[in-house]
Amino acid sequence: MANSPFNEHMRSLRAVVEAALAEELAKVVWPGSLKTAVEYSLMAGGKRLRPVLVLMANEVCGGKQADAIPAACAVEMIHTYSLIHDDLPAMDDDDFRRGRPTSHRVFGEALAILAGDCLLTLAFETITSPITNSGGEFSRQIAEQVRLLAAAAGGSGMVGGQVLDLEAERGTFLTSDKVRSQRPDEEKSGYRAGNSAVQEEAILKGGGHDPKDSTASISRSSENTSNPMAESCVVELSQIHKMKTGALIAGALELGAATTAVDQDSRSRLRDFGHRIGLAFQITDDLLDVTGDETRLGKKPGRDADLGKLTYPGLLGIANSRNKAEQLVQEACAAVATFGDRGKWLKELARFILERDH
Ligand code: IPE
Ligand code: IPE
Ligand code: MG
Ligand code: MG
Ligand code: MG
Repeated sequence: MANSPFNEHMRSLRAVVEAALAEELAKVVWPGSLKTAVEYSLMAGGKRLRPVLVLMANEVCGGKQADAIPAACAVEMIHTYSLIHDDLPAMDDDDFRRGRPTSHRVFGEALAILAGDCLLTLAFETITSPITNSGGEFSRQIAEQVRLLAAAAGGSGMVGGQVLDLEAERGTFLTSDKVRSQRPDEEKSGYRAGNSAVQEEAILKGGGHDPKDSTASISRSSENTSNPMAESCVVELSQIHKMKTGALIAGALELGAATTAVDQDSRSRLRDFGHRIGLAFQITDDLLDVTGDETRLGKKPGRDADLGKLTYPGLLGIANSRNKAEQLVQEACAAVATFGDRGKWLKELARFILERDH
């Protein structure tokens, strides 16, 4: 397994990403402390899943890898900023990340916040860097990439999802506070998909988030179900996960496609694949928080329970959460079946998400 063709391919794509990120950092002229803090988090050896997805989507669409490298770096910069901020005392208050003490533990909160801000702006500097000396059509393509990246990272994507995640933890988002006391025992109750399955599908297919719509759909889902609160919560939870994690993952795939001249149908298939593996990825993240090993994870497990987060295993139990992730990965693979053999790396990556231990 260690030397499988897929692992070799992943290694080579990660190496491309590592080199490109190091090159971007080598160019910056910033106060020394800021550069040290950004480098500390960015070059700490994450899995590089999102930039690899940009490169794989570019590859499956028949693009040139060099055209996708700025977008790949930009996505990883935004992801790393989201991790630095996610770990702050005002958010998840975590001490370890990527196998090291978190940014605010080493550099203090002010510099950690600013390192995150700086990575966010560096992402846009990086993705627009090829515009220099380029013609009109090329600039239009880059402008579209900027729009995709901003949408995935912003209020209807990652940042919005982080807000809902915190509101669910603090009992101010919809039904979470009531549900927490009623979470089903997986062995006894099991999870039965009712209306929530339909609503989750709509969430996976849907665009931006409207909290009013979500509230309405949750109250509708409470009808005709054996466990209405659990049903409601699954909808709420998939909305949170879709936004806080799925948006950037789906965005990475669409960005990769946008670096090529591929047709709209292929693009929407890649986006659909991304939403499904994005949700599966956060479900496995929630599972690893229960079952994972600190050294492999590079972060401390058990934090979700400590903080009272709304999570898939917390709501549905471990076995049902695994089944849900498995089902999403199967659906994701079906979405890219039309790519034939060219889609094989994407399908293997989807399986990696399911089987990962870190
Ligand atoms: C962690 O992301 C945060 C989530 C969205 C679950 P990763 O598990 O991709 O973290 P790194 O990049 O490998 O450190
Ligand atoms: C974080 O989700 C999602 C983002 C950073 C946007 P989590 O809070 O579950 O991620 P970890 O477990 O700290 O990596
Ligand atoms: Mg969090
Ligand atoms: Mg966290
Ligand atoms: Mg987590």
